[in-house]
Amino acid sequence: MLAIMGAMDEEIELLLTDLQDRETLERPGATLYRGVLDGVPVLLTRGGIGKVNAAMTATYLLLEGADRVIFTGVAGGVHPDLRVGDIVVSTDLVQHDVDVTALGYELGTIPGEVPAWAADERLRVAALEAAGEVEGVRALEGRVASGDQFIASAGDVQRLWTRFGAACAEMEGAAVAQVCAKAGVPFVVIRSVSDTADHDANVDYRTFMPLVARHAKQVVRGMLARLSTQA
Ligand code: ADE
Repeated sequence: MLAIMGAMDEEIELLLTDLQDRETLERPGATLYRGVLDGVPVLLTRGGIGKVNAAMTATYLLLEGADRVIFTGVAGGVHPDLRVGDIVVSTDLVQHDVDVTALGYELGTIPGEVPAWAADERLRVAALEAAGEVEGVRALEGRVASGDQFIASAGDVQRLWTRFGAACAEMEGAAVAQVCAKAGVPFVVIRSVSDTADHDANVDYRTFMPLVARHAKQVVRGMLARLSTQA
């Protein structure tokens, strides 16, 4: 079954409202919903903020039989071309706050793990096609950098851009990617840019987050139409 995750209420409530035949599954620290969205059986959940919450909730989704995972939400733009309202579709994901360099590992690499988790090709294509249909929204493919930090300085943006080649920064995607990759479950992360992760990020985030979360939701709806016809 297709699973759709967001971190916050604003990121999933627009989908939850339209979920039909809704069944609620309470799990420790998370609530999952099973139902039908635009004719497609789905699991839907708000995973909470940060990598630990994201990994825990992704695990619950997989245990409920999720066989594809879409993460939808907002992010801080890192790529210099990105503006508030644009969409980033993940090519791959890194954990920018992991630092085991003292033991000789590359920055961002967890010992025994790959340095970056690749998103699924078919889900990426479906997301980009769907994003192309959202009026007034530019979509870009790129690397998503996740960490347990809200990025709000030009210096950090520069660091994520030069050291990781990140297109955007958020706090969950790579944790979901790591869990899904271990289970062999395809995933993609779709992020609307709510701020450009600089010194105005906290203000822009509060102002634009509810608005741009709608863009990501529209992309998910467009994906459902495409994925329902695929095996
Ligand atoms: N989500 C939205 N904006 C963000 C930022 N600037 N840093 C981390 N996560 C975010």
